Amino acid sequence: SPASDATICFTEEQEALVVKSWNSMKKNSGELGLKFFLKIFEIAPSAQKLFSFLKDSKVPLEKNPKLKSHAMAVFVMTCESAVQLRKAGKVTVRDSTLKKLGSVHYKSGVLDEHYEVTKFALLETIKEAVPEMWSPEMKNAWAQAYDQLVVAIKSEMKPSS
Ligand code: HEM
Repeated sequence: SPASDATICFTEEQEALVVKSWNSMKKNSGELGLKFFLKIFEIAPSAQKLFSFLKDSKVPLEKNPKLKSHAMAVFVMTCESAVQLRKAGKVTVRDSTLKKLGSVHYKSGVLDEHYEVTKFALLETIKEAVPEMWSPEMKNAWAQAYDQLVVAIKSEMKPSS
């Protein structure tokens, strides 16, 4: 499709900013993932209802292992997106993975505004985790990697056939 033929200019420096900060955050990823999602739910409390494992759970939010693993998925896949953007100028998630991601988010009712809030919370979480590294360039690199990943996921947000 025309949309996926477009290539993005993402430099080695931008890739390095994402990878460097992620390497520094990785060791605290459990705690960061939790902070990240608590921020999302603070801004958009109704987003909690999207997650089946939160609706039915007796475990407190902050102890839910599935919430941490979703947070990790967003971090790790955004970082991978940065690497792919630099190498190929586009996000190259495996087709089957992307279809699954698209259909899961579609069925769960994830909307544009949820992706926006999540982007804001992701950038805030990184800024607070690595204040000594943080810069407008770093913010922009993470934002671009996230935006392009979301474009890819949204392109598959339709009922699974
Ligand atoms: C499920 C990644 C953004 C809500 C998932 C899964 C992954 C994932 C890997 C599991 C898919 C599976 O079951 O195979 C991502 C990535 C995102 C993103 C990489 C952004 C770059 C969001 C946002 C929301 C969201 C913004 C809403 C605030 C959900 C929900 C599920 C899900 C509700 C299904 C969980 C369940 O009920 O079992 N996501 N996600 N995701 N995601 Fe995301």
